Amino acid sequence: SAQTAAATPPMGWNSWNHFAGKVTDADVRAAADAIVSSGMRDAGYIYVNIDDTWQGQRDAQGVIHANSKFPDMKALADYVHAKGLKIGIYSSPGPKTCAGYEGSYGHEEQDAKTYAAWGMDYLKYDLCSFRKIMQQESNGDPQKAFDMEKAAYQKMNRAIEATGRPIVYSLCQYGWNKVWEWGTDVGGNLWRTTGDISDHYSRMEEIGFAQAGLSKYAAPGHWNDPDMLEVGNGGMTADEYRQHMSLWAILAAPLLAGNDLSKMTPETLSILLNKEVIAVDQDAMGKQGDRVSAVGPNEIWAKPLSGGAKAVALFNRAESPLPMTLHLSEVGFEENAKLRDLWAHKDVTASDGSYTVVVPRHGVVMLKITP
Ligand code: DGJ
Repeated sequence: SAQTAAATPPMGWNSWNHFAGKVTDADVRAAADAIVSSGMRDAGYIYVNIDDTWQGQRDAQGVIHANSKFPDMKALADYVHAKGLKIGIYSSPGPKTCAGYEGSYGHEEQDAKTYAAWGMDYLKYDLCSFRKIMQQESNGDPQKAFDMEKAAYQKMNRAIEATGRPIVYSLCQYGWNKVWEWGTDVGGNLWRTTGDISDHYSRMEEIGFAQAGLSKYAAPGHWNDPDMLEVGNGGMTADEYRQHMSLWAILAAPLLAGNDLSKMTPETLSILLNKEVIAVDQDAMGKQGDRVSAVGPNEIWAKPLSGGAKAVALFNRAESPLPMTLHLSEVGFEENAKLRDLWAHKDVTASDGSYTVVVPRHGVVMLKITP
């Protein structure tokens, strides 16, 4: 939906990874305050997104209302907008959301109108209990179930388009049925390519490195979504979070912080606010990067950037630091190309057409290479 929306991968914050079912109006306001005071808004983090568990009951006319954690959604949206930010909401095509709250099944047009009236700018639409409807009504015919799924996503897309409000449309069905092949057709601006991330290195790397091969499905307005960031949530080392942030930038993934923005260490901020890495993610050409090579635990990935440059990341998935060598020719550059280390924030030099560097355990060295 909204073809002009999401010209670059959406950036912002989402309540789920840290607050999950406990999120309140006060938490969302605090996130909006912190995204501004930390400098994140000015670095591009614009969307403040409420995930599951905001929903209350429908009234006699079927209009959805928020529960007591969110006393006034319109006022909350106004608060967020007044800070120069945008706000997002969450629902499911099923009768219930994954956390068991009210979904949009049978109320799609009505809910889209409600979201637009509140001033919502982003909708994450999470399959959840619609799977049960698919199973019940398809009588074991997988093609019929698949058609039902696509129709459900298209239905909400049309409903939000009919409101006339530009709303970024985020499909969340965990990457089944090769959603990257049809996400655009049902109006998706982004689509989850995997199940849920968690704040563990093993899960982050499992998801991130499995994105190899998907680059051709991303374009301005239409992005693969390997799930939200865990940076700052405490379950990974700084090197692991730098690897996470770098890989997501190479993937042109949405950068939706998932931590408590009101309590960030300087180290967390230095990762989320690395403007050189953000610029890789947000490059206007909108090309997703992909794997160039994998030798055991050492992987080299590259992302084409505007002006003939490339971001090249040397990832070390091993349990100890290892030297890695990049041959400029393997990423399409001549010996005289210019190299910049995007975490050290300094220019570096190749010799005889190659660059060798020790990459930390579970870490990354990320370069921008310019012809
Ligand atoms: C499953 C999604 O994948 C998560 O990102 C989150 O939205 C939860 N559902 C909420 O119930």
